[in-house]
Amino acid sequence: MKFTTCLVTLATAWGTAAHPYLGEGEWKAPGANDCRPCPMMNTLANHGHIPRDGRNITRPNIVAGLAAGLNFNEALASLMFDMAIIANPEPNATYFTLDHLNQHNVLEHDASLSRTDYYFGSNHIFNRTIYEKSKAYWTEDMITAKMLANSKLARQIESRAFNPTYRFTADTENFSLGEIAAPIIAFGDMSLGEVNRTLVDYFFVNERLPAELGWHKKEAAIGIEDILKVSDIIKAATSLITGSEQSNSAKIRDLHAGMS
Ligand code: HEM
Ligand code: MG
Repeated sequence: MKFTTCLVTLATAWGTAAHPYLGEGEWKAPGANDCRPCPMMNTLANHGHIPRDGRNITRPNIVAGLAAGLNFNEALASLMFDMAIIANPEPNATYFTLDHLNQHNVLEHDASLSRTDYYFGSNHIFNRTIYEKSKAYWTEDMITAKMLANSKLARQIESRAFNPTYRFTADTENFSLGEIAAPIIAFGDMSLGEVNRTLVDYFFVNERLPAELGWHKKEAAIGIEDILKVSDIIKAATSLITGSEQSNSAKIRDLHAGMS
């Protein structure tokens, strides 16, 4: 057995011993207080791929849960745990809870696609009105990187215009690009940078993996380089600058102006 395989197996075994739900897969509706800001953490908890109660989430839990739910490789899942652990305010913490994720301006930030800003109310409960505003930018059956970028930009403009406490640092931007890339990574085509809108909508609304719509996790394990590649596609798509080439309608207008 290869060393890396051993590590993953070991991690899974630890996690399973501590949390009998791990790897279970069956979706169960969340409890009344199980509303958190990450739709995917909620989803994995609803499937029992990470502890359903959202408590005591360790590195082995994240490694096993992201492998079971999405086929993330160990290096990627472990890196995500390292990024997430600051959510637990205890020094040298070895676990976080999903409730830790609700703290504003730690990992949770303004201008989310499906939650309102902390200034306006709950920063962690799914907000239908906000979500519909974001979804309005997903204008075709296949959501492109540009459409996802448009929804991100629109949410930022709205927050910056109306939320006097709007905050969005360079770190937030990096985190946010990863989140906006996430639907493509989990459910879409990472080379084309697009994803089926029905799958994404099902996921956001139900906090459930869209297996009953025919989706299945990727056969090849997803790694850090995949996330970086898709995040870069999204980043490029957030530029509002176009090429110097005139649009057809502008050409026609100029032509008419020249004739009059
Ligand atoms: C948002 C944490 C993994 C998809 C968030 C937010 C947090 C978070 C705190 C809220 C940010 C905001 O204010 O919008 C985590 C942690 C993870 C993790 C701790 C693992 C250790 C994932 C994965 C995916 C994902 C694997 C999907 C592949 C998303 C999406 C959002 C989000 C789409 C944006 C929600 C919105 O804008 O409404 N995550 N996340 N997350 N996360 Fe995660
Ligand atoms: Mg937020």
